[in-house]
Amino acid sequence: MAENGGDSTQNQTNRHQEVGHKSLLQSDALYQYILETSVYPREPEQMKELREITAKHPWNLMTTSADEGQFLSMLLKLINAKNTMEIGVFTGYSLLATALAIPHDGKILAMDINKENYELGLPVIQKAGVAHKIDFREGPALPVLDRLLQDESNHGTYDFIFVDADKDNYLNYHKRLIDLVKVGGVIGYDNTLWNGSVVAPPDAPMRKYIRYYRDFVLELNKALAADPRIEICMLPVGDGITLCRRIS
Ligand SMILES: C[S@@+](CC[C@H](N)C(=O)[O-])C[C@H]1O[C@@H](n2cnc3c(N)ncnc32)[C@H](O)[C@@H]1O
Repeated sequence: MAENGGDSTQNQTNRHQEVGHKSLLQSDALYQYILETSVYPREPEQMKELREITAKHPWNLMTTSADEGQFLSMLLKLINAKNTMEIGVFTGYSLLATALAIPHDGKILAMDINKENYELGLPVIQKAGVAHKIDFREGPALPVLDRLLQDESNHGTYDFIFVDADKDNYLNYHKRLIDLVKVGGVIGYDNTLWNGSVVAPPDAPMRKYIRYYRDFVLELNKALAADPRIEICMLPVGDGITLCRRIS
C-alpha cells in the first residue's frame, strides 16, 4: 500500500530522506519478498489450505493477509494469550491463526453476522484439531458484548481481542471491550490505515465503501490516540493494525 495515499515516487523518495521516517516497504516486490521468504514457508498446512479456499470466494478481499496471520500468531504466543475474542470471522483465517496459537485449553469467543462463510472454513479448522477452542456466535457482536458486560465476572478477563468487522462500530466496540479486556491485555483493531485513505485528500478518487468508512476510521484513530486507559502502537501490517494494551 502506498504510504502517502498514492503520491508520486518522487514524494516517496523525499519522505524516505526525512529523519525518523523509517518505513522500508517501498514496493510490491518487497512485500512479495516478505511473503515468500518468511511467511509462506512457515505457514501451517491448514492455514494454507484455508487461504486457498478463501481465495476462490467472491469477497476474498476481506480475508486477513498471511503476514498478518503470522504476526497475530507470534503476538498471541508472546503474551501467552488464553482467553480471546474475535469480532469478524469471515472464513476464519485469523480465527485459525488464533486457535493454533493459544494453548489446548484456550478459548475464542468468535462473532460474525454471517455463519455461511465460517462454515466454509470450519472443516479445515476441525482438521487442524482446534475447533473445540471456538465458541462461534452468529449475529451482530454488540448485543453479545452487552450481555457479557452485565455479568461482572466477565470484566477484565480477556487476554486478547481482535476486531475486524463493521468499522462504523469500532468506537462502540471500544467502549465495551475496554472493560472486558484485562489490564495488560491487548485489543487489536484491524484496518486502521484503511487502504491508505486516512491520508488521502477529501476529494481524492476512492471506492464508495472506502469513502464511507474513512471518517469512522479517522475518528477511531484519534480516539485511541487520546485514550489514557491504553498504550497504543499502530503497525503498517496488512491494512494497518492498532494494538491497544490496557493499562488502567
Ligand atoms: C474483514 S471480514 C473479517 C475477516 C477475518 N478476520 C479473516 O481473517 O478472514 C469482516 C467480517 O465482519 C463481519 N461483520 C460485519 N458486521 C458485523 C457485526 N455487526 N457483528 C459481527 N460481525 C460483523 C462480516 O460478516 C465479515 O465476515
